[in-house]
Amino acid sequence: TNEQNNHQDAKNEQLNAFKNSNQGEKLSTNQGAKLSDTSQSLTAGERGPTIMEDFHFREKMTHFDHERIPERVVHARGFGAHGYFQPYESMKELTSAKFLQDPSVKTPVFVRFSTVVGSRGSADTVRDVRGFATKFYTEDGNFDLVGNNMPVFFIQDAIKFPDIVHAIKPEPDNEIPQASAAHDTFWDWVVQNRESAHMIMWLLSDRGIPRSFRMMEGFGVHTFRLVNDQGKARFVKFHWKPLLGTHSLTWDEAQKIAGKNPDYHRQDLWDAINNGEYPEFELGIQVIEENQEFDFDFDILDPTKIWPEEQIPVKIIGKMTLNRNQDNFFAETEQAAFHMGNIVPGIDFTNDPLLQGRLFSYLDTQLLRLGGPNFHEIPINRPIAPVHNNQRDGFHRMTINKGKVAYSPNGLQNNDPQTSSFAEGGFEHYQEKVDGYKVRKRSESFKDHYTQAALFYNSMSEHEKRHIHKAFHFEVGNVKDPKIKQQVVEMFSNVSHTLANEIAKGVGVEPPQSNNQEPQVSPSPALSQLQTTFSSN
Ligand code: HEM
Repeated sequence: TNEQNNHQDAKNEQLNAFKNSNQGEKLSTNQGAKLSDTSQSLTAGERGPTIMEDFHFREKMTHFDHERIPERVVHARGFGAHGYFQPYESMKELTSAKFLQDPSVKTPVFVRFSTVVGSRGSADTVRDVRGFATKFYTEDGNFDLVGNNMPVFFIQDAIKFPDIVHAIKPEPDNEIPQASAAHDTFWDWVVQNRESAHMIMWLLSDRGIPRSFRMMEGFGVHTFRLVNDQGKARFVKFHWKPLLGTHSLTWDEAQKIAGKNPDYHRQDLWDAINNGEYPEFELGIQVIEENQEFDFDFDILDPTKIWPEEQIPVKIIGKMTLNRNQDNFFAETEQAAFHMGNIVPGIDFTNDPLLQGRLFSYLDTQLLRLGGPNFHEIPINRPIAPVHNNQRDGFHRMTINKGKVAYSPNGLQNNDPQTSSFAEGGFEHYQEKVDGYKVRKRSESFKDHYTQAALFYNSMSEHEKRHIHKAFHFEVGNVKDPKIKQQVVEMFSNVSHTLANEIAKGVGVEPPQSNNQEPQVSPSPALSQLQTTFSSN
């Protein structure tokens, strides 16, 4: 109906208001003065020096000199597209989130796909994790699902993020290698951080070299909460499933394409959308009841663990269609700012220690990257929901706030913005009990680093295993220090002896020291203790 289409188009209309195509217009300065010449500087005599008075030269050159902004500290290379999301049925039982209530409502979205390690100009088809960040412009405000194409992560605690990024980014003395994990500092970091074992298996599998952004799964990774209008909460994990299926390149293809067309993935997305072959992704959820929190042999707050789909099936709840290319890469893809803290009523956080740290990092980095506190006013970041508050001023403020007072509550102005109750759609944090001692110590229930890594490896077909072996040969083979190579072999003998032996053979070090039995991995005993502790509270 018209009303629904209006809702879907609301973001497009908002963006249109900012669009400017210079088609056929007369050139002018930024102040609107028409120009007679933009190709010759004003000089004192035809062969003389350029003079200060040339305001047009200075404005043109100054603007150019300031064209670049810092690239993202990670996920610098990315590509975005517009589209919409529609739920298949009402999710009212599970969540009050507005965009999940009515199957006839289309919520506008902007998605940015990315690599993690390489700089803005690096090649698309490198072996890396891919970012899959979605901004839903819901009528209750923006909801950002800032995910990756792998369901787990390298670390359990956000405080290690600067370390892993410093280890995987090019080495600081010579800025080598660009966009690759095949170097000493990364593998040294891995062997010092055994919690990375599971994620390394995903990264070195074919998932690390996707064929197309249109053929990647996406994962929220963290455990979130869904909260319904009765205030009842459940644990949830989010999944995106591409309707084209999940497909990868081979390593040989990936390397050749990186040389021949470093823009392969962005080109593929751009062309597909221009040709009307709109990429589609179904949204799935896995749900765990609150009273089942400790029923598993892993901690559901541990971001290095998946929730096995045989135990907790993925329910498909809706579909996203990407049907419009951006008009301007810088204005949209580069200036888009995704943040876990952009959340709407009906969805909430958990104590996943990686999620907790991310909640700080994104806003903080964007304050620097996008030049101050007003980047929410950049067209791509503006919610379609109305914004009213007493935040004022700062660099690049666009809104012209009217009125005398900028504080609440006030007794002077009768249109003083008011807070909303839960019943009126106000966001209320889920009331979780968190009594405990202040400690720098991770729960024992996060200690099992190998069970799921082994499950992953053992679930691979023979050719997939071969691809993993070859990936280790390339990545670890590029490590210069033989000590690190040997440590990698020992570490992965905890995943599989076959794997460890294969790595050793391919990188020219000794087979693993440990015995030749397949490693015995048992679930963490800590979980039953947690169950007892929490139920006695
Ligand atoms: C981008 C930090 C873990 C997905 C970024 C950025 C930072 C960051 C600073 C740049 C943001 C910007 O400049 O706008 C962190 C920290 C992490 C972490 C501190 C762990 C403690 C993760 C995880 C995922 C993820 C687990 C996936 C579930 C992304 C994505 C982007 C991104 C998709 C790119 C967003 C875009 O397209 O603009 N991260 N990250 N990150 N991160 Fe993370």
